[in-house]
Amino acid sequence: MAKSITLLSLLVLALTLACSGQKQSAMRVSGLTCEYLSAPLGLGEPQPRLGWVLDSPRRGEVQSAYRVLVASSPDLLAKDQGDLWDSGKLLGNRTCQVAYGGSPLASGQQCFWKVCAWDRDGAQTPFSESSSWSMGLLDQSDWSGKWIGQVSEPPDTSAEKRTPGPKPVWLRAEFNVEKPVKRAVVYATARGVFDLHLNGSRVSDDMFAPEWTDFNKRIQYRTWDVTARVVQGANALGAVLADGWYSGFLAWQPWRGSYGYQNSFLTQLVIEFQDGSKQTFVTDDTWRMNNGPLLEADFQMGEVYDARLELSGWDSPAYDDAAWKPVDVFEAPGVPLVALDVQPVRVTQEIQPKAIFQPKPGVYVFDMGTNFAGVVRLKVNGQAGDKVVLRYAERLNPDSTVYTENLRRARATDTYILKGGGEEIWEPRFTFHGFQYVELTGYPGQPSMDAVTGLVINSDTPVAGSFECSSPMINQLMANIVRSQRANFISVPTDCPQRDERLGWMGDAQIFIRTATTNMDVAAFFTKWMQDVEDAQAPDGCYSEISPRYGRMQGHGGAAGWSDAGIVVPWTVHLVYGDNRIIERHWDSMVRWMDYVLRDNPDFVRRNGRGSDYGDWLWIGDDTPKEILATAYWAYDAHLMSKMAEAVGREEEAKKYEELFESVRAAFQKEYVSADGHVAGETQTGYLLALYFDLLPDSLRPKAAALLVENIKAKDWHLSSGFLGVRQINPVLTMLGYPDVAWRLLETETFPSWFYPIVNGATSIWERWDGWTKEKGFQDVGMNSFNHYSLGSVGEWLYASVAGIDLDPSEPGFGRLLLRPRPGGSVTWVKAEYKSIHGPVVSDWKVEGDTLSLEVSLPANTSGRLYLPCPEGAAVTESGKDAAASEGVKALPREGDCAVFDLAAGSYSFKCPALKK
Ligand code: BGC
Repeated sequence: MAKSITLLSLLVLALTLACSGQKQSAMRVSGLTCEYLSAPLGLGEPQPRLGWVLDSPRRGEVQSAYRVLVASSPDLLAKDQGDLWDSGKLLGNRTCQVAYGGSPLASGQQCFWKVCAWDRDGAQTPFSESSSWSMGLLDQSDWSGKWIGQVSEPPDTSAEKRTPGPKPVWLRAEFNVEKPVKRAVVYATARGVFDLHLNGSRVSDDMFAPEWTDFNKRIQYRTWDVTARVVQGANALGAVLADGWYSGFLAWQPWRGSYGYQNSFLTQLVIEFQDGSKQTFVTDDTWRMNNGPLLEADFQMGEVYDARLELSGWDSPAYDDAAWKPVDVFEAPGVPLVALDVQPVRVTQEIQPKAIFQPKPGVYVFDMGTNFAGVVRLKVNGQAGDKVVLRYAERLNPDSTVYTENLRRARATDTYILKGGGEEIWEPRFTFHGFQYVELTGYPGQPSMDAVTGLVINSDTPVAGSFECSSPMINQLMANIVRSQRANFISVPTDCPQRDERLGWMGDAQIFIRTATTNMDVAAFFTKWMQDVEDAQAPDGCYSEISPRYGRMQGHGGAAGWSDAGIVVPWTVHLVYGDNRIIERHWDSMVRWMDYVLRDNPDFVRRNGRGSDYGDWLWIGDDTPKEILATAYWAYDAHLMSKMAEAVGREEEAKKYEELFESVRAAFQKEYVSADGHVAGETQTGYLLALYFDLLPDSLRPKAAALLVENIKAKDWHLSSGFLGVRQINPVLTMLGYPDVAWRLLETETFPSWFYPIVNGATSIWERWDGWTKEKGFQDVGMNSFNHYSLGSVGEWLYASVAGIDLDPSEPGFGRLLLRPRPGGSVTWVKAEYKSIHGPVVSDWKVEGDTLSLEVSLPANTSGRLYLPCPEGAAVTESGKDAAASEGVKALPREGDCAVFDLAAGSYSFKCPALKK
C-alpha cells in the first residue's frame, strides 16, 4: 500500500513537472474566489472577478505572472484546456480583481477554473485545485414561470393598530423525471420571504431569501444546485411563503406592507439530462396551495405556530393534496430580477443558555449569556394544545422580569402550540429578534436548560479578523463589537435588530464599515448594499439617509454623515479590497450627489440641503454645530472622489475634485477656524473632523490637537463625541502624538466610555453611552437599543494601532501593509491576525521586562513598512541577528520614537528594548 502511494505521488509529480515544462516553484496558489465568494452559484455579474491567495516558504516572494484557465467542464479543465478562457501567461503580481476575459457566458453556464502562478524567479507553481462558479438567469426573458400565491386582504389602515398579516402559504407541485439527470439547478424568488423544499426537505439552510432590496426597484433571486435531490420518477417541489421585508412590518410604521401586501413566489427548476436534453419546471396555475401550521409570521412581531396543523409530508411526492386549492396567479413585477451575489443569511452559531430563573410562578427566564440577533430552538414535551409563549428581551428589570419597553412596537413574541405525543422541537423560520433573555410562559412542566438553544442569525460573511490581548476588558469590547456586527448584518447593514426599526441607516454603516472589514469579509455584502444606496438616491442626486428606501418612508435625504455613505462605502471597499469596479459602477451616482451638494451651497459652506440633519448623533455634553459637520464631510467626500477618480484613471475629475476639496477646506477655515487653531463650537468632534479630514493649515494642526486634548482633559479624560466623532477620536490622537490619551480613553471605566457598558454587563455595543447608568437606570424607552454597532467603530483602531495591522493606501487591498503596533495602556501582549484579500497578516507582540518582541507575517506577494517602537540607538534583532542585516529587511531612517524597516513578504521575529512608559 505504502509503496503504491509513493509511486502514485511520484507519478503525479512527474506529470505536473512535465506539464509545466519548467522549474517548479515552492509557492502555492489556493483560496480561489469569484466575486469574493467561494464557488458561487447563479452569478449575475457577466464578467466575474477572480481572486486567489499565494503562500510561499521563502521571504520576499512575489508573483511575476499568472495564468487562469476557465473550462466548461471539469474534464476539459483536468486536461488544462480552458475552452472558455485561457488567459495565457499574463505578467504581473495581480491576484485579485482579475476580471474574467473569456468568451461571453450564457445563463446557467457552469465555469470550472484554476490558476497557476510564476514566482519572482520565474519558476512556475502547479495549478491550484479547481474551483467553479455558475451563471444565473442573465436575461429577464429567461424566466418562464408565473408568480403564484394566495390572494390576501390589504392591511387595515383604519387605525394605527398593528394587525397581523396573512397566514403564510404553502405551495406545491409535482413533476415527473423520465431520464437520468446530469444537473438540476433551481432559481427562486419572491415578493415576501420563502423556504424552498424539494422531495421531503428544505433545499438549503439559507434564510429570508430573496433578502432585502427596494422591491420597487429590483428583486433578487437565489440559485441552488439540486442535482443530488432530483430523482428519476415522481418529485415534489414546494415553498413556504411569508411576509418578511416585502409586506411585513418595517420600521415604526403603523401598518404592514411596505412594498406591497400581496406575497407571491416564482421558481424555475432547470434539469439537464444525461442525454443532453433539458426540461424546465416552473411555477404556474397547476400548483396548489394551503395554509399550514404558521398562523402568523413577521420579523418584528414573531411567529405563531400551531403544530396540530402541520402538513406532514407535504413536500414529498407521495402526498395527497386533494384538499389543497389551486394557487392564485399574480402579475409579474415590472422590475428586474437580479442575482443575489452575496453570502446568504443563515444560522451561523448555536448558543446554550447560561442560567434559568423564575421571576414569577410559571414564568421562566433563560439568560443566553450574550445579546444577539436570531431565534431559539424550543424543545418541549406536553399535551396537544398546550401553548408556550416566548418573549425576547435585551435586559432585565430590577425584579428579573424581562425589560421589553425599548422594543417599542415590535411584539417580539413567538407562540408554539403543541401537537402532543412526545418530544417536539421547533424553530421559527421567518422572524428574528434581538435579545439576551427569553421568557417562557405556558411551558408544560419545568423547563430544563436544554429546552432552549440560541440560534444566531446573520449574513454569513466569513470571519476575517481575530484579536486577543492581555486585557480582558479590551477582549470583551472586541467581542461586543463583533457581536453587534453580526446582529446587524442581516442582508443589509442595519442600526439595530430588536425594536420596530431595523433599518439600513447609512450614518451607522459608513462610520462602522472600516471596522466591519477588520472583523469579516464584507466585500460582497457592501457591494450589494451600495446598489441599495444608489437605488435609494433621489432624482436630484441627493443620497438617502436609509437604504434600501421603503414604501412609506418619508424624507429626501442629505444628512451629513448619513448620505455621505454613498461616497465612503465605495471608497472603503476600494481601499480594503482593491476594488475599482465599485467606483466605476457608482461613479455617475456619486457625481450626482456631489453636484447636488454644490448646487445648493455655492460658497462651499454646506448650509443647505441637509435633510434630517442628525448632527453628531447621541453626543454627550458637546453638541457640534451641524454646519461644521456638514462642511467637513463635504470636504472629505471631495477628497475621496479625487482619490477614487485617480484610481480609475479619471485624471480630469481627480483634479476637479481636489480643487473642490481645496475650496471647501478654505471656506471651512475662513468660517470656523481662528488664527490660533480654535475650531468653532469647541467640541471634540469639531476638532476631530477638522484634523482627520485635513481641513486645517499644517501650522495649526499641533495647536488644534492640543486644544482637543485640553477639551478631553476638561472632561476629566472622557470622550463626549457621538456617532460622527467616535470613529476618529483614537486614530486622531494617535496620529498627532497623543497615543497615551487614546489609551486612557480606551481604558476608562467611568461614564461616558467604551468600558462603562462592559462594567455594567454589556455583551454588545449599546446605541447610547448612557443606555443604562447607575444613577438613572434605563434611558428613554423611545430610543434605547442595546445592540447598535456605531459606537464600536473604535475596532479599526484596535487593529491598526493596538495590533498594528493596517493597509498602506498607496496599494489598496493590503498589497502593501503598514505595521505599527503601539504598546500602551495596561496591555502587555496582543495576538492578532487579519485575513486580507492577499492572505493572512499576523501581528503578535509582547512586552516582557524591558524587551518588546514582535512576530509579524506578511503574505506572499505583499510588502510593508514596520514602525517598531524602541529607544533611540537601541539594538533591534530579527531572528536573533541584527535586523538591518536580515533577509527581506531594509532599515530606514528612524521616525519619532520608532525604528523603521521595509519588509518583504514573509514571517519575522523582532526583538528590541521596549520604550519606557
Ligand atoms: C437609529 C440610528 C440612526 C438614527 C438617525 C435612529 O433611530 O437607530 O442609528 O442613525 O436614527 O439619526
